[in-house]
Amino acid sequence: MDSLIINGGKKLIGNIPISGSKNACLPMMIASLMTDEKMTLNNIPMLSDVKTLISILKSLGTNIEYKKDNLHLHTKEIINHKASYDLVKKMRASFWVLAPLLAKKGYAEVSLPGGCAIGTRPIDIYLEMLKEMNIKYSINNGYIVAKAESPIRGLNFKLEKKSVGCTHFFLMLACLANGTSKLSNAACEPEVVQLGMLLNKMGAKIRGLGSKKIIIEGVEKLNGINEIVPSDRIEAGTFAIAVSATGGRIKLENTNYDENKTLFKILEKTGSKINKSKNSINIEKTNDEIYPVNIKTSPYPGFPTDLQAQIMTLMAISNGQSEIKENIFENRFMHVQELVRMGANIKLDKDKALIRGTRSLNGANVMATDLRASASLIIAGLVAIGKTTISRIYHLDRGFYNLECKLNNCGASIKRISE
Ligand code: UD1
Repeated sequence: MDSLIINGGKKLIGNIPISGSKNACLPMMIASLMTDEKMTLNNIPMLSDVKTLISILKSLGTNIEYKKDNLHLHTKEIINHKASYDLVKKMRASFWVLAPLLAKKGYAEVSLPGGCAIGTRPIDIYLEMLKEMNIKYSINNGYIVAKAESPIRGLNFKLEKKSVGCTHFFLMLACLANGTSKLSNAACEPEVVQLGMLLNKMGAKIRGLGSKKIIIEGVEKLNGINEIVPSDRIEAGTFAIAVSATGGRIKLENTNYDENKTLFKILEKTGSKINKSKNSINIEKTNDEIYPVNIKTSPYPGFPTDLQAQIMTLMAISNGQSEIKENIFENRFMHVQELVRMGANIKLDKDKALIRGTRSLNGANVMATDLRASASLIIAGLVAIGKTTISRIYHLDRGFYNLECKLNNCGASIKRISE
């Protein structure tokens, strides 16, 4: 298992190219099951979650080749209807293959995804959606076994809770359904818009993307496509928080200001200067004062839960008191204990973290507990006095492409060791 050793106290200065988005790329790859023609995705971040999904798609019959950042996917025929526990357990998003299997073939057996470190993550809304679509299912030995009429009937559905995954799932089920479907209280995250736009380019008829109401007219078939995976807003946000913590100046290349507007407004309040140009953003932190800000996570365009752990590190070294409320996942505070080991003063009260800024942190041995928590510990290691060793770094490799190289190119001192 790999660990990272960070010698802290260095400012970040330089340019960072932002990679393709993991959360956009996974549903786009799954959408390749919806056409029997070829799909090519450019700008693929070859992360371990992407590799897991490649294995799942191959097991279902997709022919896959990876050449120079391009992933070529071709499912002439779905030859297997079962996505096995061994693969689905590694990554929750793989559960979404259920939608194209049902839309294309009318039958699927997909392992239930289970809980994870950040919360129980139920699938009740997905199941409600299947029921409303008149798709019969049962749960046998940890698998959902579902059978749909062909084609599936279009329907009106309201999400009782905004869910990115349920919105992706609905888009994929409804675009090949019979008739018109409407989704109310739909998620508005950029990744939902990006999946919808991909499906539209493949021949789907989806309107209202990016709003709470999505309307989909079912079509009979989808075509192949060549598409670029958009850049990763969570990766860009993580670097912006990192430089706000260490001080220095970085230019984020190939990223979109609007997708991280809420974060950038908050970073300005903490004392960073942000300047945007067409396709890049400059973040500069010149003084030593980090001002505290209260933050609440919420669905897009609110503050993303996927940046909550990282901003907590920044608040841990602020010059005052702040509160972070986590509204999306009930247990997304696993990083708190590790930050406390580095000298942070954070108290938890149910879904709130009360943070008294200590202005500095000390290097320590810490453990990454989940994907975004590992990024928060890296930021902590970059600002800490002395050496920080972060173990279980495989969590980081699920979702951040070349993170330590990109930081080292800007003056950080991070070494990876294999034990
Ligand atoms: C996606 C992202 C993840 C991000 C999250 C919220 C990917 C691969 N993952 O996860 O990085 O943190 O959105 O922005 O894109 N819920 C239910 N019942 C359900 C489904 C969801 O109660 O059937 C709840 C969840 O437990 C959570 C909330 O809805 O409290 C939002 O979760 P959701 O948006 O579905 O997250 P994911 O799509 O799994």
